[in-house]
Amino acid sequence: MSYKGKFRVWRGDSEGGELKDYEVEVNEGEVVLDVIHRLQATQAPDLAVRWNCKAGKCGSCSAEVNGMPKLMCMCRMNTFAEDEVVTVTPMRTFPVMRDLVTDVSYNYTKAREIPAFKPPADVKPGEYRMQQVDVERSQEFRKCIECFLCQNTCHVIRDHEENKESFSGPRFLMRIAELDMHPLDAADRQNEAQEQHGLGFCNITKCCTEVCPEHIKITDNALIPMKERVVDRKYDPLVWLGNKIRRRPA
Ligand code: SF4
Ligand code: SF4
Ligand code: FES
Repeated sequence: MSYKGKFRVWRGDSEGGELKDYEVEVNEGEVVLDVIHRLQATQAPDLAVRWNCKAGKCGSCSAEVNGMPKLMCMCRMNTFAEDEVVTVTPMRTFPVMRDLVTDVSYNYTKAREIPAFKPPADVKPGEYRMQQVDVERSQEFRKCIECFLCQNTCHVIRDHEENKESFSGPRFLMRIAELDMHPLDAADRQNEAQEQHGLGFCNITKCCTEVCPEHIKITDNALIPMKERVVDRKYDPLVWLGNKIRRRPA
């Protein structure tokens, strides 16, 4: 069964733009991305949209559907009433390139700022050993498809361009937490998370967790434990004493 769906799609570029209304055929079983493709094929051949897998795995088709951050290929049309206007806009946190395509390079910059996994110098590759429980802890974080919907949703940067320099966002704080929880990682991740990546900006609202299409418990399993690790280190009297002793002149 098909019907004519009402769509409002943001059209424009970095200079500005507007919402345009369209009526597009919708068929049973379709998702928002199917309809956007039909719109492109039949009425708006110059409509820019980024996508790759159409299976919720590449993380490219992120946008906002009726104001909610979504993967367009996973957003089913039968979740809307047939007479409902479906509004599709680009992610708000990143600069628009054209139509539904945003420039997400902020995320790649932040990713590059995180030093790679640093195994102990005296353990050779092939000799790394770790407990299954430690493997499982980071497994959840490895499900990330880098759709950046969590980054788009986080209020610290969503309307605050000025915070982008000092805050890396939930996806990358989660990456730091993953490395910090790795029993063989020898880098100082806690100080780095707090000082260079703005962990203190996060006030654990969990909005990032709510929009994650992989259902990763970003706040509960990565951000809160990371905050606890930072606090433990700062206020643990033994750690405090150790730092004092080390700082004494020889
Ligand atoms: S929990 Fe922290 S990182 Fe996640 S949306 Fe809230 S402030 Fe941002
Ligand atoms: S943590 Fe979830 S929402 Fe964030 S980039 Fe990864 S998959 Fe997307
Ligand atoms: S097209 Fe790959 S996640 Fe949507």
